Amino acid sequence: MKVVTLNTLKELKAAGEKFSVVTCYDAAFSQRINEAGIEVMLVGDSLGMVLQGHDSTLPVTLDDMVYHTRAVKAGNSRSLIMADLPFMSDASLPILLENSARLMRAGAHLVKIEGDAWLAEGISHLTRRGIPVCAHLGLTPQTVNQLGGYKVQGRGEAGQALIKSAQELEAAGASLLLLECVPTELGRAVTEAVDCPVIGIGAGPDTDGQVLVLHDLLGITPGKTAKFVKNFMQDSQSIPDALAAYHQAVKNNDFPAPEHCFQ
Ligand code: KIV
Repeated sequence: MKVVTLNTLKELKAAGEKFSVVTCYDAAFSQRINEAGIEVMLVGDSLGMVLQGHDSTLPVTLDDMVYHTRAVKAGNSRSLIMADLPFMSDASLPILLENSARLMRAGAHLVKIEGDAWLAEGISHLTRRGIPVCAHLGLTPQTVNQLGGYKVQGRGEAGQALIKSAQELEAAGASLLLLECVPTELGRAVTEAVDCPVIGIGAGPDTDGQVLVLHDLLGITPGKTAKFVKNFMQDSQSIPDALAAYHQAVKNNDFPAPEHCFQ
């Protein structure tokens, strides 16, 4: 299997082919995810919830992210590794640069940052220095306290503002966009409005790629899961089978199905 780069994702978008993304936090899963053919591994700050047991991603530190990025890198042979900048790691441009550099030194191929149009300055600061960035828009879990909960974003007029933000962030240098928890129509509109690949989670079937949290995909997340989650272990005999089933379902555009989407 070929090594995946940002160019691979751009080529897939141009060819109208979907790609799959899953969160990963250690070397063993990194190998299994590679074998399943999944293009991108996200070292997500969701580790604060699924590994550390917190009720949000806010307690996750940069040291936590560096530790898990190193572990994922150790098991990786072909997938693109994207690592999350955790809460408050972009307090100023020098801090943002230093924190992003630590993630890149640990093995990330690009960093992901949550926010909105105001991220533009930080994104161009990083990309000018050789650090590719994915901008995470829509439901941004690090601002859950401001959003008043994990709710669908971008309904009504807010949708137009989100499309504009996406275009501004692409112009600032973002290599990828990630859209979380927005209506299907908005997922499609953003994907069409930008040239860079767009990854969706709860953003409908029309984004270029799909991402799921590993523990959700394997059906081992404690408590209630979101509407956009599918447990791929239910019809699989093993973890490698479930990962391969997820990858195939994304490639065939069978996932997400209407019951996983917001209208
Ligand atoms: O941290 C994470 O796992 C994420 C996904 C929810 C996209 O950002």
